[in-house]
Amino acid sequence: MSELSVNHLLGIKYLKESDIQLIFETADHFKEVINRSIKKVPSLRDITIANIFFENSTRTKLSFELAEKRLSADVINFSAGQSSVKKGETLIDTVNNILSMKVDMVVMRHPNPGAGIFLSKHVNAAIVNAGDGAHEHPTQALLDSYSIREKLGDVANKNVVIVGDILHSRVALSNILALKLQGANVKVCGPKTLIPKYIESLGVEVETDLVNALNWCDVANMLRIQNERLDISYFPTTREYTQQFGVNKKLLNSLGKEIVIMHPGPINRGVEITSDVADSKQSIILNQVENGVAIRMAVIYLLASKIK
Ligand code: CP
Repeated sequence: MSELSVNHLLGIKYLKESDIQLIFETADHFKEVINRSIKKVPSLRDITIANIFFENSTRTKLSFELAEKRLSADVINFSAGQSSVKKGETLIDTVNNILSMKVDMVVMRHPNPGAGIFLSKHVNAAIVNAGDGAHEHPTQALLDSYSIREKLGDVANKNVVIVGDILHSRVALSNILALKLQGANVKVCGPKTLIPKYIESLGVEVETDLVNALNWCDVANMLRIQNERLDISYFPTTREYTQQFGVNKKLLNSLGKEIVIMHPGPINRGVEITSDVADSKQSIILNQVENGVAIRMAVIYLLASKIK
């Protein structure tokens, strides 16, 4: 297979395992490109991409913009906070105005789950979901799996635990779907109040004891508490959360093996992981960020090749 089975990247749930492998093989090529002295290729000289962000972002926004520029696409950036959305303009009107400037692809982050799916049905452009509320964050899951593959050689049969706020996390859902599609074993660990009831229907086991989870896993993906999405209190105090579900160096060293530590960012240092864990040699957090550019180049390149 040399092309994706989809015309948009709306979520991992719409991908086949062969799509993931194609994205990884394409990212391998682009990773080699971005480590050259000349980091740019002319592949998308005739493509214009709009990055429209209705929610804050550091990594995803910069990574998409860099990926697009490395591919020589024309790039326009839109942040809702400084736009006419503030004057009441709707999502479809906003995007159709942007598209009338002859834009081929839209990368969108939005607080509402399903915003990308909605957009893909109403506008004529390839849509890439850069995170839609607590629903999906597909490029994050792709770069996470790619980073596991790079570190451990393969994703299949690896034991991965996702720790923290599973209920509000688009990173958790996209990671679970991507890891299961590739044959990994997945557990989630966190306060019972932050683990959705349906989670086991995704083929995932629940472990509420962090030490058991860490002893079982090859990889621990540590998530941030999504304070901006918490409508009520899900645990007594942050201090108590850290005592039960935070990873520190003493705990890491007490395990009988070396596990890989991941985090999608932004990190709340001292809450879900301490600085000496985040910055340890077991951590691949900055490798994840580096791989994000190659993965996003691959996604954009493969989707653009379906437009032409
Ligand atoms: N991992 C991630 O999505 O980070 P940002 O919110 O900074 O983009």
